[in-house]
Amino acid sequence: MHTKLDPWSSSEINDYSKLFEEFGISPFDNLLPEIPSPHMYMRRRVIFGHRDYEQIAEAMRIGAPFSVMDGFMPSGKVHLGHKMVMDQIIWHQEMGASAFVGIADREAFSVRGFSWQKCREIGVEEYILSLIALGFKPDGLIYFQSGCENVKDLAFELGARVNFSELSAIYGFSGETNLSHMISVATQAADILQPQLEEFGGPKPVVVPVGPDQDPHLRLTRGLAGKMSMFRVEERENANGGKYLSVRGKGAPKEALQELKKRIPGKVKLYEEHLDIIETPNYPFLERFGLQINQPEKKKYFTTEIEVGSKFVNEIKPPEFSEYEKYFVFKKIWKLTRKILEEIVAEVTAEFGGYAFIPPASTYHRFMSGLQGGKMSSSVPDSYIALTDDPKEGAKKVKRAKTGGCVTLEEQKKLGGKPDECSVFELMLFHLLGDDEELLEIRQECVSGTRMCGSCKQLAAEKMYEFLKDHQEKRELAREHLDEYKIIYKK
Ligand code: TRP
Ligand code: SF4
Repeated sequence: MHTKLDPWSSSEINDYSKLFEEFGISPFDNLLPEIPSPHMYMRRRVIFGHRDYEQIAEAMRIGAPFSVMDGFMPSGKVHLGHKMVMDQIIWHQEMGASAFVGIADREAFSVRGFSWQKCREIGVEEYILSLIALGFKPDGLIYFQSGCENVKDLAFELGARVNFSELSAIYGFSGETNLSHMISVATQAADILQPQLEEFGGPKPVVVPVGPDQDPHLRLTRGLAGKMSMFRVEERENANGGKYLSVRGKGAPKEALQELKKRIPGKVKLYEEHLDIIETPNYPFLERFGLQINQPEKKKYFTTEIEVGSKFVNEIKPPEFSEYEKYFVFKKIWKLTRKILEEIVAEVTAEFGGYAFIPPASTYHRFMSGLQGGKMSSSVPDSYIALTDDPKEGAKKVKRAKTGGCVTLEEQKKLGGKPDECSVFELMLFHLLGDDEELLEIRQECVSGTRMCGSCKQLAAEKMYEFLKDHQEKRELAREHLDEYKIIYKK
């Protein structure tokens, strides 16, 4: 069956594994060891999937530039669901990302019919104050889409590369969909690509932390990143199954291609619209591995990865490498070669006034369920906790929440509770308990029937009270310091 992901209705996604197969989202688990001090949501598998996050992990490890980007539609109250996203933005910012936050007032205008004034009020009063209170640093950029010339111009340009059939395939748009709604989709793609504009230092990995419902936007934007770029670096295969790198530049100026050819060390073939790098390039970075490469005497295509890896490395340092090491070294060299090539391509692109966008990476987090079970819904105040709820009221909501406990204490002692179906446990897992050990202990006690729901509710209610009280004080502080932040408003 086809899983439809619709960002404008909150259809519940109960089988996340479908996303892996159908949309090419990768499981996050395998990546964990590559991330320096992973975020709580990563450790706890709240973040379950990603696209291309490897490049972000690498940038964090080696200190290369990268960005985190996210947007919020100013639609109503800021709540714990938004806090999840904000926490991730702030974490990436702390890990070295330049941060971009868009207030999607174009979306709220076109989808909800809100006035610009209303968008601005909600944007500042709800989202921006909480974002800052949670720890967003002033060096990040916050902007209203309607005030950001970059984003609006880029959205228009992106629009020339999308047609209605694509939009209806991705979003189910029909003859009734209004034009501004479509423009808001292009605007969101522009939000995501903006960090890679020259003004912000050019092409770099960008991560967009989202819930799976926002994935259609990412698919659209990733496609557009390729279509908009002056050149595309591709790994291709020749007739013998050999691997080589190719740069395609459909519509790129001939001079740009020639310039590229000049700057790429190694043997390059230039065609009408692309050039192929067909021989082992000889780069100084290889010295970093203690490897010396003799200029290959004859034609040496990369055949299959492993074979080439061994052959390639055999020529350099014959016997001391194991097969595994050879493969590993080859992979590294290939990756670095590609990276350097991408850098050269980006340089030339910039000189010729084109775009060089790297398709954005993303992470996907589980949604919290409503406090009464089912979905969180903005029209049911008891189903969610707003960051502006009176702390006492917030604590009461926790006490009224649905748990995974049994009807009677006796039963619970005998059978244990179900933390995975418990919204109080979820609150602790997503927000209230930073200590993994403590959380695991509670889980254990619950399952084994030694813990009663009353004590969880008591603990969670107290923590919720404290959190809300503290957060709201910080919001007031943020209000006083708003002018220290870079915020672009509608003129
Ligand atoms: N569509 C998002 C929402 O409904 C808001 C949004 C706008 C966004 N631009 C974005 C999300 C860029 C991620 C990245 O809340
Ligand atoms: Fe939830 Fe705690 Fe009750 Fe277990 S004991 S079901 S974790 S409230």
